Amino acid sequence: MGKVILIASGKGGTGKTLFTANFGAMLALEGKKVLLVDMDLGLRNLDLYLGLENKVVYNVMDVVSGVAPISKALIQDKRFDSLYFIAASPYLDDRDITPLHMHVLLDRLKKDFDYIIVDAPAGADESLDLAAVNIDQAIVITEAEYASVRDADVVEKRMKKKGIKDVACVINKVNMELMTLGLLPTLEEITSKLNMPVIGFMQYDDNIHIATNKGVPIVLKDDTYIEKNFRRILSRII
Ligand SMILES: Nc1ncnc2c1ncn2[C@@H]1O[C@H](COP(=O)(O)OP(=O)(O)O)[C@@H](O)[C@H]1O
Ligand SMILES: [Mg+2]
Repeated sequence: MGKVILIASGKGGTGKTLFTANFGAMLALEGKKVLLVDMDLGLRNLDLYLGLENKVVYNVMDVVSGVAPISKALIQDKRFDSLYFIAASPYLDDRDITPLHMHVLLDRLKKDFDYIIVDAPAGADESLDLAAVNIDQAIVITEAEYASVRDADVVEKRMKKKGIKDVACVINKVNMELMTLGLLPTLEEITSKLNMPVIGFMQYDDNIHIATNKGVPIVLKDDTYIEKNFRRILSRII
């Protein structure tokens, strides 16, 4: 049975979708069969970050409403045979998906994949709950600033309340220069505010931003500090 991992955050724009795309690419590089599910209903981006936007015909809503079978909504990555993706519905009000729908869908998908990574919407409300159905583990992405950290903590509490024990944090968009100058909180200060283990951090890097806009997971560029760092984070997750 596959493992389901949720990528969540309190604030928007912390890097969930970027993390999901790269996490999936790296697992596929390691020979795992991986499915990425975009659950940011109405605000989907994962297709763009994977460079698969032209391949989307059916989405998760079409599957649960019976418009399309799962096989039609699964999009195979151009680079890896073992990396698949299901798009979110592009409509914000297209939320006729219930937790039961998600539970049944994931039970079915878990039989076919080693890992299912769910890209959650930002926030800590019912949309997060819907994305968090049937998950084994949650990774909360935060930026290295107090507002983002506070919101990450709200997400962590919501996950724990749902009985999800394995919740960890990745700190993204770290600006070492400003930290060293004492203009931003240090990693220690940020970490001490969080009630969950921090399993890694990623620096702000223009190359990451450029790669997402090209639809290429940055970890595919071999032997960079970004790829090595991501590999370390991955090993702590799995
Ligand atoms: N470490 C990073 N360095 C540079 N840009 C980043 C980094 N992480 C994310 N970004 C950029 O930040 C923006 C938001 O990232 P995204 O993954 O879409 O966030 P979310 O899914 O949490 O809303 C994107 O434009 C992305 O390219
Ligand atoms: Mg996103």
